[in-house]
Amino acid sequence: MKKIDINIKTKPINYNIFFTEEILEQLNPKINGHKVLVITDHNVNQLYTKEFVKSLNSDQNNLYKFVVKPGEKSKSLKKLEDIFDLLLDKGFNRDDYIISLGGGVIGDLAGLAASTFKRGLNLIQIPTTLLSQVDSSIGGKTAVNYKNIKNVIGTFYNPNLVLININYLDTLSKREFLNGFSEIIKTAFIGEKHLYQLLTKNSYNSIIKKRKLLEKIIEKAILFKKQVVKEDLYDQNQRKILNFGHTIGHVLESNNRLNYKHGEAVTLGMKYASLFSVYKNLLNRKECDKIIKKIDKFGLPTKINKNIPFKKIISVINQDKKSENNDIKMVLLDGLFNPIVKKVSLSELKVVWSDFIEEDSSD
Ligand SMILES: NC(=O)c1ccc[n+]([C@@H]2O[C@H](COP(=O)([O-])OP(=O)(O)OC[C@H]3O[C@@H](n4cnc5c(N)ncnc54)[C@H](O)[C@@H]3O)[C@@H](O)[C@H]2O)c1
Repeated sequence: MKKIDINIKTKPINYNIFFTEEILEQLNPKINGHKVLVITDHNVNQLYTKEFVKSLNSDQNNLYKFVVKPGEKSKSLKKLEDIFDLLLDKGFNRDDYIISLGGGVIGDLAGLAASTFKRGLNLIQIPTTLLSQVDSSIGGKTAVNYKNIKNVIGTFYNPNLVLININYLDTLSKREFLNGFSEIIKTAFIGEKHLYQLLTKNSYNSIIKKRKLLEKIIEKAILFKKQVVKEDLYDQNQRKILNFGHTIGHVLESNNRLNYKHGEAVTLGMKYASLFSVYKNLLNRKECDKIIKKIDKFGLPTKINKNIPFKKIISVINQDKKSENNDIKMVLLDGLFNPIVKKVSLSELKVVWSDFIEEDSSD
C-alpha cells in the first residue's frame, strides 16, 4: 500500500472588526476597482442601503444590489441560486466583493454565496441588528435553511472585514433589540463575568440610553466570541459552548406556530438547559434562579407560550445535526460561568421537559 502525506500549512485567519460611524472610510479603499454586490433586505434597503450604495466610491457600473424579503424564508437555496445567476451574469471573479448589509439572515446568505461562488469571493459584513453585531457576523458560519431544517447547508468562511456602526441599532424595534440581547446574556452566563456584572448593575433603559455602555457591552460579547472561535473555528470542541440554550432554542424557533425569534427561543432554551443542569446536580437551584431572573429582568421570555408535547420536540431534535442515535450533546452549566458539553439521553430530556412545562404553568 502506498501512502501519500498531505500536510497543508493553512494561513492564519486574520480579519479586523471595526467599531465606526465612518463605514465608508474603511470600505471605499478596499472595493475600489472591483465589482461589488451589496446584499440586503427590503427593510434595510429603505432605511440604509439606498443611500449607502449611492455613497460607495466604486464605479457605479460595477456596483449591484440584491434585495430579498426580510425574514428567515430568504435563507433559501432559491435565493442563493438567484445570487449565483447575478454574479455569473455580471462576470464576478474571486477578487470581487460581496457586502452584506443587514441582519443575520442577510449575513448568513451573503456569506454562503461569497464562500461558494468560484470557491470564494471577498466578503464584508456590515451587521445592522444587535444579533448580527454581537454574534452572527463573527465566527465565519454561513448557512441557508433546507426542507424546513435550519442552517443545514452552510460553510465556514470568514469575512475580510466586519464594520460595526451601533447607530444602525436606533431603528430596531424593542423586540428585535432584545432578540440580540439574548446572545449577550448568554455570553455572560457562559463565562463573561464582567459582562454579567454590567447586566446586574444596569437596566434595559440605561443600556439603550448610554451609548458608551452599549458599545462596551457589545465589544465584550464580541471579544468573548472571538476568543472561543479562535481556539476552535470548526466547532469541534470548545466552540460548542456558544450553543448554550440553542438545543431547545432551535426546536422552539423552528415551530412556526410558536412564532419565536431566535433570541427569544434561545432564552427559553437557556432556562431549560439550566433546569437540566440542576437535574444533573451540576448547578444549584439558587444559581438557576439567578439565570431565570436575569432573563426576565430584560423582558425576554422565560415562560413558553403554548404547551408542546414532547414528541414534537423529539422529531425536531432527530432532524437536528446535533443528534447522535438516542443521545444528544447539550451545553450545561457546571456552576454559573462554567459551561460543559454533555451527552444526554432523550429520556432524561423528557423528564426535564415535564418540569419545564410545569414551572411555566405554576403561577
Ligand atoms: N452565522 C452565525 O453564526 C449565526 C449566529 C446566530 C444567528 N444566526 C442567524 O441569524 C439570523 C437572525 O438574525 P437577525 O436576528 O439579525 O434577523 P434578521 O436578519 O431577519 O433581521 C431581523 C429584522 O430586523 C430588520 N432589520 C435589520 N436591520 C435593521 C435596522 N438597523 N433597523 C430596523 N430594522 C432592521 C430586518 O429587516 C428583519 O426584519 C437567523 O437566521 C440565525 O440562524 C447566525
